[in-house]
Amino acid sequence: MASSSTLLFLLTFLSLGRGQRSNTDDGRSSCSRCDLQLSCNCSHAGFTRVPMVTGQALRLDLSFNSIAVVTDNDLPGHTQLKALNLHGNRLSTIYPSAFDSLWSLEELDLSENLLTALNHTWFRKLGALQQLNLLNNPYSHLGFPPVFQKLVRLRNLALGGPDLKELRRGDLSGVTQLEDLTVKANNLTRYDSGTLADIWPLGHVTLSLHGPFIKNVTLASAMLSDVSYPETPLTLEDLHLNANESVQPFRESARRRIRDISFRNLSASDESVVNLLVVMDGVPISRLYFEDITLTGEGSWEKASWTDHKGIDEFFIRNIVVLDVFKFTSFLQLKFLLNYPRRVSVINSMVYVMPCPSSQLLVNVQYLDVTDNLLTDLTLAESLCEKNETLKELRVLNISGNVLKSLSKLSRLVSKLTKLTHLDISRNGYTSMPSSCPWPSTLRYINISRAKLTTITPCLPKSLEVLDLSNNDLKGFTLPLPALRELHLSGNKFLKLPDGQLFPNLQTLAMQSNAVNMFNQSDLQSYGRLENLQVGQNKFFCSCDFVNFFQSQLKGGGDLTLTDGEDSYICDSPFSLQGEKVGQVHLTLIMCHRVLFVSVSCGCALFVGIVVSVLLWRFHVFWYLKMTLAWLKAKRSSQHRQRRRNDEGCEPLLSFDAFVSYSERDAGWVENFLVPELEEPCEADSGNPPSPQPLTLCLHKRDFLPGQWIVDNIMSAIERSRRTVFVLSENFVQSDWCRYELDFSHFWLFDAGGDAAILILLEPLSKDDVPKRFCKLRKLMSSTTYLEWPQEEERREEFWRSLRNALRGEDK
Ligand SMILES: *[C@@H]1O[C@H](CO)[C@@H](O)[C@H](O)[C@H]1NC(C)=O
Ligand SMILES: *[C@@H]1O[C@H](CO)[C@@H](O)[C@H](O)[C@H]1NC(C)=O
Ligand SMILES: *[C@@H]1O[C@H](CO)[C@@H](O)[C@H](O)[C@H]1NC(C)=O
Ligand SMILES: *[C@@H]1O[C@H](CO)[C@@H](O)[C@H](O)[C@H]1NC(C)=O
Ligand SMILES: *[C@@H]1O[C@H](CO)[C@@H](O)[C@H](O)[C@H]1NC(C)=O
Repeated sequence: MASSSTLLFLLTFLSLGRGQRSNTDDGRSSCSRCDLQLSCNCSHAGFTRVPMVTGQALRLDLSFNSIAVVTDNDLPGHTQLKALNLHGNRLSTIYPSAFDSLWSLEELDLSENLLTALNHTWFRKLGALQQLNLLNNPYSHLGFPPVFQKLVRLRNLALGGPDLKELRRGDLSGVTQLEDLTVKANNLTRYDSGTLADIWPLGHVTLSLHGPFIKNVTLASAMLSDVSYPETPLTLEDLHLNANESVQPFRESARRRIRDISFRNLSASDESVVNLLVVMDGVPISRLYFEDITLTGEGSWEKASWTDHKGIDEFFIRNIVVLDVFKFTSFLQLKFLLNYPRRVSVINSMVYVMPCPSSQLLVNVQYLDVTDNLLTDLTLAESLCEKNETLKELRVLNISGNVLKSLSKLSRLVSKLTKLTHLDISRNGYTSMPSSCPWPSTLRYINISRAKLTTITPCLPKSLEVLDLSNNDLKGFTLPLPALRELHLSGNKFLKLPDGQLFPNLQTLAMQSNAVNMFNQSDLQSYGRLENLQVGQNKFFCSCDFVNFFQSQLKGGGDLTLTDGEDSYICDSPFSLQGEKVGQVHLTLIMCHRVLFVSVSCGCALFVGIVVSVLLWRFHVFWYLKMTLAWLKAKRSSQHRQRRRNDEGCEPLLSFDAFVSYSERDAGWVENFLVPELEEPCEADSGNPPSPQPLTLCLHKRDFLPGQWIVDNIMSAIERSRRTVFVLSENFVQSDWCRYELDFSHFWLFDAGGDAAILILLEPLSKDDVPKRFCKLRKLMSSTTYLEWPQEEERREEFWRSLRNALRGEDK
């Protein structure tokens, strides 16, 4: 069993090793930047060859590398790949069968490469392809046989570039219907009429025809003619219209009743504008779209004022540059253009005022967007005709990104727009709100995001259904708005969700990037009808309550949808959870019941402590400990003294016959009986034996050196005395013996078998009265005979004699 698994491991290891080696032999590196959706982002990685990627990949982005060639072996077995992006490489060679295994491929981007010729064999197996981008490669023609023949599902096609010279009849055969066609043909010199004519339905067409419009009007006309249909929006790029001639191709579009036309990157003179208006006279164009426009003239277009443009419904301009802005005449003569549209947008075009008479021409405008211009409170007053009626049909007004400052002035100006429902005043300089404001009663939507508001007031109308106050400096919201359905408060400084009772109809609440660190069931319950919530990108404190609530109530289910996705809810604290997703955090029991846990463990510790202390006390462990310590200490100081004496080479000096140790309570007996009897024996009656020699006694009261450590004193007293007399009594045993047992247990005194110690029992005392722990004393009592102090007078003589003998025992 074990050996077979080892073998397996070895085999795996070997095969891995071999795989890697062949890898390096082949010179191909691999890319593993694939996400869970099997989308592999290998762009900007410096690859010079197609890297190895998992065979399961669904999308492979290889854009912006340095890949020069795709060989037959580079994409083997990628039968599931749906999208391949090779944009911005150095591709000059693609092997004929390179894409043969990509049966599922739906999107292929080969734009911005160095392909000088296209080969129909690349695409022969790509029956599923829907989008093909071949823009900006240096091929000059599409080639034969027709390259797109097999692409039966193709819906989006982009081709051409600065080098495209020819488009021949049949080049696009096989392409039958498209949603989007882009042809960059700024340098096209040959176009066979009808080349693009067979594609139908045709969704949207973008043509770049700089050169043809200037040099070859016939060619441009033929192309426009082939792609102009009433239902097909047409975008023309890179045109430079400077004369009558250059606008003539539009006659073809006009003839085919084109309805939606856009210009991008256009420069036009007055003459060409006038002629364009003439060419388009009576054509039911409904949408005119201009982006990145340079006007070289003075705006004198009145020569075309007789033309009919009643059909124009939407007029859109973005990024317009008027070269001679100061000579540019007023729009007043443009009544024939301005009376009709319902939607007008003039975005990012340095508009600083729209004179009242001009704005009064916009009689049909319902939607006016002047985003990103230079309107101030003053010029807006002029544009909205402070003292006059204007824009009576207006429903949506977008003044986002101007330099407005006064909300009270704005509200007064718009209050007479009696049909206004939407007002976008975001990205202006509003810093405060007056306490009340007049508004049109129809107003439902206000966007004041990206201003500098710090508080809100009842200035906000009660009729609001959508309110956007994102990216201000708000800290609280206390205004009831009963009709409100959407409230956007992201990017402010809220610490918690506002009270839901203010908004009984709220369905959407966005509060991303605030300072909300948690919220709970009751916060949300106050909202009666909330359906969509966005509170991500706050610094969440991942407490157990919050995490439990989030994981059980919010995550994937319930009536409430987290529209900003569960993944944007990240823990910021506690530190151990920082950076983890709230929805995926696992909290342990200990973390969740910390207080309980701490109290229980403290309780246990306390209990154990008490039990241990009781046990210690019961078994006198402290006493034994103290004893051990003292023993060690005394041992050391005794050794020290011994060494010193040895060094000095002299015998211990014996200056006393006996050291008497007694309890303070027994001092009376010692002083009145013992000392007189032994130190100064009285002259006895003649005939009696001669009086005994006096003995010298050491008494702590009398003979101890003051100022020395008591233990040292006792020790040296014992050392300097031949015998030690213990006067034992109940008192002595209970209170004084301690010290001896503690401090001198090491002493020769106790070990010498009791020769040196003499015990006097002042009162009857049996061994069993001595506490068990005084083992030395008990030992002493059992090994040494002791003298009992007799109560009867006549036996005392006997006692003294025995004591004297004992004291002199050595000399016997
Ligand atoms: C193609 O057109 C570009 C401008 O779009 C011009 O700079 C370039 O010289 C032209 N190339 C040829 C080969 O005519
Ligand atoms: C705009 O068109 C001009 C030719 O009229 C061209 O040279 C220029 O590159 C174009 N600009 C962009 C951004 O496409
Ligand atoms: C513009 O050219 C067309 C045809 O080439 C001609 O019919 C028309 O009169 C010209 N218009 C002007 C204003 O020159
Ligand atoms: C106003 O214009 C901005 C920028 O074009 C856009 O994001 C916003 O949705 C517009 N507001 C309205 C109410 O159309
Ligand atoms: C409010 O305006 C901002 C900036 O112009 C825009 O991004 C946002 O989408 C608008 N809000 C709503 C709710 O349309």
